[in-house]
Amino acid sequence: MTRRLIRGDLERAVAAIQDGHLVAMPTETVYGLAADATNPEALARIFAIKGRPSNHPLIVHLADPEDFGLWAPDASAQARQLAAAAWPGPLTLIVPRSQAFPPEVAGGRDTIGIRVPAHPMARELIRLAGTPLAAPSANLFGAVSPTTAQHVADDLGDRLDPMSDVILDGGPCPVGLESTIVDCTTDPVQILRAGAVTATEIADVLGSATARASGPARASGMLASHYAPSCQVRLVDTADDAMALAAGTPGSRTLDLTNDLGRYARDLYGELRQADLDGVRTLIAVLPPADGIGHAIRDRLTKASAPR
Ligand code: TXA
Ligand code: MG
Repeated sequence: MTRRLIRGDLERAVAAIQDGHLVAMPTETVYGLAADATNPEALARIFAIKGRPSNHPLIVHLADPEDFGLWAPDASAQARQLAAAAWPGPLTLIVPRSQAFPPEVAGGRDTIGIRVPAHPMARELIRLAGTPLAAPSANLFGAVSPTTAQHVADDLGDRLDPMSDVILDGGPCPVGLESTIVDCTTDPVQILRAGAVTATEIADVLGSATARASGPARASGMLASHYAPSCQVRLVDTADDAMALAAGTPGSRTLDLTNDLGRYARDLYGELRQADLDGVRTLIAVLPPADGIGHAIRDRLTKASAPR
């Protein structure tokens, strides 16, 4: 079954999207479960297959930065500045939702998250399909995001239809953590989710400070417990602390990639999944410094370790 779902060819994937089916597509951040963003029935299947509440908005993916004006005519000047600076790339901008998008894609909100992914296969798929693609991460709701086609098959292989849906294999995701989300409908803009594009970079582009997100969970990635594996995750500050804790914790494994933060981000979700596959009971993770992508790694580790 799973074998029939995973494919390397775009042609089948383009046809699937145009026929209202689903395609798990590689992006530079994580794999997304994509459907035509203008097709409410196809969108309903995304929510059903992920087990995602229908009021959790999806991110829409465009092929080219030039398409932003067409699909987000009311985007603020700041949104346009950020798009010009960071796209294609791991940055999602929340802007007013145009009538071109059905309410379903945005979980009923009047705003919408949009980004242009940097993965060539994703961009080619969107271009050839001829429509924006709505795509949440291609995992079950609340679980760890997939960074390989096999991860998607492990999570959703039984739920997708091997006759019509497609898992497009574009290799491992080069960034490994979900996009930075910036709400551009407020002034100052607010960072709703940390990612590879940092707050410092955003402030540099805008020439002004950003605000921290406030209010009740604005993005599902802001829920305290999210991105969680089955094993317990415990956080420590240093390799020495990890060693001491491991000595007194049977069935534990230590994760420490603090000497290479790019690799830490890239491998984090695969390591969380592997720990579960290997029956690890406690994963002891060394926190990276809060610098650059270290912010996003700390955020995901903290959520993976939250009580649940
Ligand atoms: O890197 C990514 O962003 C990946 C790839 C596939 O592009 N996608 C992704 O999607 O992480 P998802 O659905 O797992 O996370 C989307 C997040 C959710 O936390 C959602 O609440 C938030 O974006 N979001 C989407 N639209 C929003 C809106 N209009 N207002 C506030 N938050 C929004
Ligand atoms: Mg997700």
